[in-house]
Amino acid sequence: MVMQAVKDAQTFIEKKLKGKKPEIGLILGSGLGVLGDEITSPEVIKYEDIPGFPSSTVAGHKGQLVIGELEGKTVAAMQGRFHYYEGYDMDLVTLPIRVMKAVGIDTLIVTNAAGGINEEFSPGNLMLIEDHINQFGTNPLIGPNDEELGVRFPDMSQAYSKELLKIASETAKERDISVQRGVYVGTTGPSYETPAEVRMLRILGGDAVGMSTVPEVIAARHSEMNVLGISCISNMAAGILDQPLAHSEVIETTERVKIDFLALVKSIVAKM
Ligand code: 6GU
Repeated sequence: MVMQAVKDAQTFIEKKLKGKKPEIGLILGSGLGVLGDEITSPEVIKYEDIPGFPSSTVAGHKGQLVIGELEGKTVAAMQGRFHYYEGYDMDLVTLPIRVMKAVGIDTLIVTNAAGGINEEFSPGNLMLIEDHINQFGTNPLIGPNDEELGVRFPDMSQAYSKELLKIASETAKERDISVQRGVYVGTTGPSYETPAEVRMLRILGGDAVGMSTVPEVIAARHSEMNVLGISCISNMAAGILDQPLAHSEVIETTERVKIDFLALVKSIVAKM
């Protein structure tokens, strides 16, 4: 069933590409979709037009796939993703990853807005994701395994490619963009954490917390894609600063960090 959905979407997208072969996939998180606007000779495909894709609903997400050239590479960028908290099942949340793999993409850059748990972080920091902790309470690979997609028990010991992390760090240094590194904790949301939960996640080893990315990266590793993850720390998580959290802060901060974010990701793509 999943495989049929993947093939239907693949056929539809490939027809629009007229032989263009994307090599890098980008998933652009809340407020970070602007990177998609930098893609030249773009083929823009609205999610609602792709067989099996729903239309995304969150503010700050456009809901389209943009395929074209970025820094001399052919890329496919998702402007907006499907979140588990929207009520989509894990098969749908990870469908775009399966489709990217099917059209020939082997390298994935996932981005997100996340709350800072590490007290050394500040809103506006960019964090290279070194590893993640799955706090969704489920896993997108639960159910019969389709050997066409990957193995039953995928290795997650290098979920985030060391090689891509090295390229990203070097690029940041060269471009004089400061970056943090750390562990991303993925939760279902949509409520933010309580201060007690944030203290717990810190003890567990988390540096930032968000509501996406983990299912996508599990699916990407299942199909042996190389993954780079970048979080934009849009706010500090609950209880770290004495202030309530609001989605508007997420959008405001990502707006402010856009220039560094764009420069960093474009230079990384150039080096890949
Ligand atoms: Cl504080 N928590 C979660 N779960 N997601 C977020 C966030 C916090 N800030 C941005 N996204």
